Amino acid sequence: MDLRDCLRRCSEKIKSLPKTSRIRIISHYDTDGICSAYILAKAIEREGFDFHITLLEHPVKEEIERLGDEDSDAMILSDLGSSFIDTISKMGRDSIILDHHQPEDRDVIKGSVIQVNSNLFGIDGDTDASGSSLCYLLAKEMNKENIDLSPFALMGAIGDKQSLGGFSGVNREIFDEARREGFIKISRPSLKLGDGPIIREINLSVDPFYPGLSGREEEIGKLLDRLSIREDARYSEIGGEEKKRLHSFLMLTLLRNNIDPLVANNIIKERILTEKLPLNLDVISEMIDACSKSNDHGLALSFLFNPEDLYERIKRRSEAYKIRIIEKLREIEDRGLKETRNIVYFTCDKAGDGSYMSGIVSSYFDCKNKPVFSFSKDRNKIHVSCRARRKMVERGLNLGGLMRSIAQRFGGSGGGHKIAAGATLEETDLDEIVRYIDDIIGKGYEGKV
Ligand code: C5P
Ligand code: ZN
Repeated sequence: MDLRDCLRRCSEKIKSLPKTSRIRIISHYDTDGICSAYILAKAIEREGFDFHITLLEHPVKEEIERLGDEDSDAMILSDLGSSFIDTISKMGRDSIILDHHQPEDRDVIKGSVIQVNSNLFGIDGDTDASGSSLCYLLAKEMNKENIDLSPFALMGAIGDKQSLGGFSGVNREIFDEARREGFIKISRPSLKLGDGPIIREINLSVDPFYPGLSGREEEIGKLLDRLSIREDARYSEIGGEEKKRLHSFLMLTLLRNNIDPLVANNIIKERILTEKLPLNLDVISEMIDACSKSNDHGLALSFLFNPEDLYERIKRRSEAYKIRIIEKLREIEDRGLKETRNIVYFTCDKAGDGSYMSGIVSSYFDCKNKPVFSFSKDRNKIHVSCRARRKMVERGLNLGGLMRSIAQRFGGSGGGHKIAAGATLEETDLDEIVRYIDDIIGKGYEGKV
């Protein structure tokens, strides 16, 4: 079966349900998961069905089982699910999985479950398709009019860092289609800054994290003074010469920190705009992720349904979160990362913070060409988040595989992509976990680039 046939089957399955059906959508709580859920909900609503969305932070088997037991006529899992295909198929309910994480089971059909996992159709889920892209393909299969949801597919891919180096594969096709049909516009190359005064925007900039500047307002004030740029000016208001001076200085600041070269090429770039959202997709994607990881999944999702009314609220919420995260990143900046032979790591209180920060650290801190791990203790468990640079993956690193294997060794669950993965472990001896990871990476992957 090819991807198109598989999507057609999913669409037929949904459309064959009685119109009184209630469809449960279970999705991941990051930007990609939230865009996936939104796209599915819109497509389902447009067919006249009722839907109910649940966003999961760290999906575990028990949670999937509990949700599957609740009253609903069909279940769609997006941006997750492949790790739980056995559990889902045992429930015997009509279910669809739309996932791009590495699958454990290669069956597309398993009992009453259809598993649409990009990797099973020769599409690399790390780089060429996000959960949202797959949900969008299904939405379009259900009704061509759903093409207006294309900007949300792109925003999901951006959230999962699949736009680095330009879109490719399925994402590229969606981008071209959205542009051709007029659902997106492309801006002139620019920095990723919001609509507030420059001093405030740089101060609050987490991605990019400007070393020595992010979270250090006084230093930014001095810099703007040196560059003869008014502190209260907005980025959109300053002239070409001022922009050039600002761009060069910020780029140099980043490069001095040995940032990921792939990320460096994306600091000043064209941005995607859509009439459906108030700012470019890079900025909005970050707002949604920050809001959701600050524990307000509901607001992050509702914003997509009602962007005009909820813009100020999500902006405030994400800014408050970023202030807290920048504080922690500054601590790492001052104190340095912990380092073993094959990894760099840090610890933090909350798993959501670790997930958010590990991506930033991997991109913008000098990680000595090693993958980054974050560890958070939560009661009797340790949550691990890990991120690598694309070059390390090209040399053979597979973090998703590594997380699955530590979950087997220490108990718990784990998985993800080669480049970004996570696990929740029963073991709480951090030193032992670090030793194990260091050892396993050392055996299969030297840690050098
Ligand atoms: O938790 P975190 O955001 O670091 O997870 C990174 C990636 O690994 C996510 O895409 C998530 O779906 C995946 N993951 C997983 N199994 C886990 C934890 C995370 O597949 N137990
Ligand atoms: Zn995803």
